[in-house]
Amino acid sequence: MASVIMYLCQRCRVTPMLFLLIIPVVTAMYLIYSLHKQILLFPTNEISKEHQVRILHLQGLVEDLNNEISETIAERDLLREKVQFLVGNLSQQMQLLSKENGDTWMDKYLELYQNENFENEQLLGCKQLDTIQILAKIGQGYSKVVQEGLYGRTHVAVKSVAAVVRDVQSCLKSNNYKKTEDCYLLSNYKLLKEALMLRELKHESIVKLLGVCVRSENPSPYIHERGITSVVELGSRDAVLLPQLKKLPWIQRLKISQSLASLLSYMAESPLGSLRIPDFKEEQFVMVDDVIKLSDVDDVTNLEPSCDDDMKCLIDGREIGIQCHSSYRCLGMNSRLNFARANEVFLSPLLQHSAPIKLQNSVTSLLQDVKNFNVDANELQLSLQRLEKQYYKLNSDPAF
Ligand SMILES: Nc1ncnc2c1ncn2[C@@H]1O[C@H](COP(=O)(O)OP(=O)(O)OP(=O)(O)O)[C@@H](O)[C@H]1O
Ligand SMILES: [Mg+2]
Repeated sequence: MASVIMYLCQRCRVTPMLFLLIIPVVTAMYLIYSLHKQILLFPTNEISKEHQVRILHLQGLVEDLNNEISETIAERDLLREKVQFLVGNLSQQMQLLSKENGDTWMDKYLELYQNENFENEQLLGCKQLDTIQILAKIGQGYSKVVQEGLYGRTHVAVKSVAAVVRDVQSCLKSNNYKKTEDCYLLSNYKLLKEALMLRELKHESIVKLLGVCVRSENPSPYIHERGITSVVELGSRDAVLLPQLKKLPWIQRLKISQSLASLLSYMAESPLGSLRIPDFKEEQFVMVDDVIKLSDVDDVTNLEPSCDDDMKCLIDGREIGIQCHSSYRCLGMNSRLNFARANEVFLSPLLQHSAPIKLQNSVTSLLQDVKNFNVDANELQLSLQRLEKQYYKLNSDPAF
């Protein structure tokens, strides 16, 4: 290379100074060129390129896997919902089949499926309530329609609001509303109030809340389209009517009276305060497995009644030993009112009717004490227990 340059310089007659300048420039250029070439050909760079390709490939695979996982999860949820619907549909048929064939795999599945929800007293939610098969309408009041439903293998009472109930009807007729939906507000509120109260009130003589679903105000004949639904233990309405109750043996009526006394005692000191059942009547109760249970609590209140215009606290025009409080309320009246109404509606008719002759005096005297508020709910419970013991003692006596 140097000889080439020398030759060129001689041919071009370049001065020695210029020659001296050209040599380092050309050398530097040569060095830069070779260094650049080496960097490009450096082996580690070759590997990183390979890695980059592999990384890209792996990233693609991960993305594909993530997509597949999301799809599988969505599919699993869809299948779960389908199974729930199938269980609802099959349960009715299985009830018939299981009677004929004994336990089947489906029977066992239904049991597991239900236990999953009923164990730990967990409330059912919208998804589970949607699977309930509505079987028949069994009751209707001012604010609610009650239907019998089948959840898995359990018969339940389904409470909801519909256009037919009187509270909604009277609102619609009044033309005093902005939107039709407004007429459902009161009934929906009562339905919700009842569900929330039942969630707090736990007593063997109060129906158990099994589930609740709240998602809109929409009324619908189809349970999965309904805005608000509550589900409670199913009971028999007819079994609590007096003519039916009077057909029961006296001892069974005594046991029903004991349950009621226990309920009165619980209501007087419930977790929500001293509660009053304002419209105490047979229709508020149902019979579940021979136990009388309060089923309508939407009007229940812990507010004690106001004193009358003469600042008195009277029940049926009688002084009951309660003074008008400075808040103008008759404190302690809630429990007394429940007591008086329970006596009128159930206790007196149930205990007096065909009482064993040898117990009639005890029964009359106890009912007199109840009427005059000489005993409270706890004392009534004890007296009824004593009456039961007397009954069995007399019953074991051959002369009875
Ligand atoms: N758990 C239940 N099992 C069976 N039947 C029931 C149950 N709960 C309520 N019913 C029936 O449905 C009827 C209406 O239910 P509910 O009393 O809850 O409605 P409501 O609108 O609050 O009535 P009301 O206007 O008397 O306050 C009851 O009278 C009863 O016959
Ligand atoms: Mg009611």
